[in-house]
Amino acid sequence: MAQLWGGRFQGEISELAWKFNASIYFDKRLINADAVGSKAHVSMLAKQGIITNEECEQIKNGLDEILKDVNEGKLQITDKYEDVHSFLEANLIERIGDAGKKMHTGRSRNDQVALDMRLFVREEVKNTAEALYGMLTTLDSIMNDNLYTYMPGFTHLQKAQPVTLAHHLGAYFEMFYRDATRLKDIYSRMNYCPLGAGALAGTTYPLDREYTAQLLKFNGPTNNSMDSVSDRDYLIEFLSALSIIMMHLSRFSEEVIIWNSNEYNFVTIDDAYSTGSSIMPQKKNPDIAELVRGKTGRVYGALNSLLVTMKGIPLAYDKDMQEDKEVSFDAIDTTKNCIILFTDMLKTMKFNKDQMEKSAIRGFTDATDAADYLVNKGVPFRDAHGIIGRIVLHCIDRSIGISDLSIEELKKFAPEFDNDVYEAISLKTCVEKRLTVGAPGPEAMSGSIKINQKLLDEFWTHSEDFEILDVL
Ligand code: ARG
Repeated sequence: MAQLWGGRFQGEISELAWKFNASIYFDKRLINADAVGSKAHVSMLAKQGIITNEECEQIKNGLDEILKDVNEGKLQITDKYEDVHSFLEANLIERIGDAGKKMHTGRSRNDQVALDMRLFVREEVKNTAEALYGMLTTLDSIMNDNLYTYMPGFTHLQKAQPVTLAHHLGAYFEMFYRDATRLKDIYSRMNYCPLGAGALAGTTYPLDREYTAQLLKFNGPTNNSMDSVSDRDYLIEFLSALSIIMMHLSRFSEEVIIWNSNEYNFVTIDDAYSTGSSIMPQKKNPDIAELVRGKTGRVYGALNSLLVTMKGIPLAYDKDMQEDKEVSFDAIDTTKNCIILFTDMLKTMKFNKDQMEKSAIRGFTDATDAADYLVNKGVPFRDAHGIIGRIVLHCIDRSIGISDLSIEELKKFAPEFDNDVYEAISLKTCVEKRLTVGAPGPEAMSGSIKINQKLLDEFWTHSEDFEILDVL
């Protein structure tokens, strides 16, 4: 055991307590962020004359060498150390001696870990937005190719009115675009540097917190040292954004699973994204979509877990907060993988357009338009609704559609029917006449797609929204 805090203790910590307390098993993932943060800290200490320039250089080079050795497998991160912070400091002192002992001047592990998590999460917010951007461009391209691909639109999972594939996927474009903008919001709110808050009450050293924040590409230092070490709101916001992304992906997965069923047969999932059965040779299962739907639970779990962890702890830092890491790492990896895999599955998925169109014709998706036809001929809407309802009942008994009835038969229900009714309730008319903003008519859809493309073009242009962590 190599702890940072032996001085005031007389006895040894129990082995079980040491293991229970240690975070090295999972916070080793923060090693790059920890080194970057330490380099910024010592640069600031040197600028302020708290350590010499030479000591600063020694520390920075020492940290670089440790990182290199870890990356090359020459140095193992073992549970001899309590956490990644102790690992780096102990190894640094071993390598460069006394200068290494000065690295932690004016700093506590409380502001250190707050910084490390922020650096790590900030980068992951950006990576998640990048994955979403891939999903959005994929949706945009499929939408462009399918302005005239008719399919039934559903409510209550009952056929309702015809739409197009472009329109249906356009709904997901909206959801994922909102998700991406949510990430931008989180990024701008979290982009403040907690380093220099010390354990909770700042420090008496003349630290230049603005300078450290600037080196690490933050918008500035955080404004209250107690809040700096105990705030995990940004992480809760991120987990909540990830949960919403997973909720959208899960709904989409559910639809793909239904569309891929033998009964619907709207899509064929590529072999690369399906699996077989060990006993039933004919099976080709949509496992990827099912797993995305299933993994939504663990991301919600992470959000719940952190909310519950944080709800009862007094200011400022408490060790409970160490529990923020494992669940967050898992939720971040899970969501990113799900977005990327789902996007790849979409890119290779075959849409069975004939089957979708056939399905859009059956099931009385033209009933609303038939009622609207009568309204245009002067019948009040409520009466028209009743007339078409009776026609539908009549057709169900005979297993036919409205347009299979002759004009004479239709006239028995309402004398207003004329030969132009067939054209008025054709699938093409039902879709293409829907021209209001946001509707499935191809002209309206082209307008929506133009707006989407503008949003995509502008997504990365405000670079201050997403700074990249290639600092120092
Ligand atoms: N492993 C700790 C965490 O993740 C680091 C901070 C430790 N601070 C302390 N006062 N023990 O929260």
